[in-house]
Amino acid sequence: MHIQGKNYQTIWTDDTVPGTVYIIDQTRLPFEFCIVKLQSCRDAVRAIRDMQVRGAPLIGVTAAFGIALAFRETAFRRDWRKSLEKSIATLEASRPTAVNLAGALQALRPFLQHCKNADAAEITAWEYAQKLRESEISACSAIGDHGLPLIEKLAKVENSEPVNILTHCNAGWLACVDWGTALSPVYKAWRNGIPLHVWVDETRPRLQGARLTAFELGEEGIPHTLICDNAGGHLMQQGKVDLVLTGSDRCSRKGDICNKIGTYLKALAARDNAIPFYAALPFSSIDLQTYDAATIPIEERSEEEILFVEGREGKVRIAPPGSPAANPGFDVTPARLVSGLITERGICPATEAGIRALMEDENAA
Ligand code: MRU
Repeated sequence: MHIQGKNYQTIWTDDTVPGTVYIIDQTRLPFEFCIVKLQSCRDAVRAIRDMQVRGAPLIGVTAAFGIALAFRETAFRRDWRKSLEKSIATLEASRPTAVNLAGALQALRPFLQHCKNADAAEITAWEYAQKLRESEISACSAIGDHGLPLIEKLAKVENSEPVNILTHCNAGWLACVDWGTALSPVYKAWRNGIPLHVWVDETRPRLQGARLTAFELGEEGIPHTLICDNAGGHLMQQGKVDLVLTGSDRCSRKGDICNKIGTYLKALAARDNAIPFYAALPFSSIDLQTYDAATIPIEERSEEEILFVEGREGKVRIAPPGSPAANPGFDVTPARLVSGLITERGICPATEAGIRALMEDENAA
């Protein structure tokens, strides 16, 4: 997608500089556009932990590149099978909630275990990371194609009035490699000439809505309005929201969705106002091992993110000295509040049977 009219993805390599991975430093957006080089597994861990890269699909891809980068270190190669386990554990611990991260590493492990030596394992790890990057791009693009008819249908009802879509956090291309999850249908609809407008929740505490979603929609020329996190319910009561679209960091086998803190309240308000609430996610964000989303580890983040607000000029304290803060990063929206899951394989009900049916269709194809 575009920044200043130029096409970018969030993570890429350059064949002329082997062993280097490039990312956009999302902690600097929207104020500065900085490209950062990752040259070691440590760099990848830091980028994920400090949220230079964030969003479920992107941290999975970055973790895979982290393992590929680890093979460039002499100390790692010396006893690479043992070192691999340590690096997997460190990467997995860097952010616990999104299943993509652990999923990418667990899926990579057997490929590496079959390698005869470090050279073969290094090639395998690079190939795996590149393939994962490509597959996340095509999954996100397909999510857009499957979600598009939902917006088209609402556009007909609206009779050329813009379709009003509310989104929470950043589930756009910056959270993925390209296209995004929740925003992919928005981009496809816009490119198909459907008039639309996006209500962007600012998404405290880190303001991914204000800083990233507003930024990427603006760069694509899509009409949007930033709102504070508490405004959504009111706008829904006023008939100003036609559709709620969010991403999901981890979806349980029965269709509960774990996403940025505050998503649950949007889903409750949407249900109370009979507004469709869809979660858009690739299958890499579905955790088939987890039936009950209550068991998903919820990342508890620093209280500094609540006690301070960060902007272009740095951090400003907004709470009295001595007041403690609690900062759970994600919440769970029960499947019963989710109108459907938009995936790369199609849209399904947020149920175990719905998810299985899409998997069976894929296997049969
Ligand atoms: O803490 P973040 O910025 O990594 O949280 C991201 C989200 O909650 C997104 O909505 C989620 O990853 C789904 S996006 C593709």
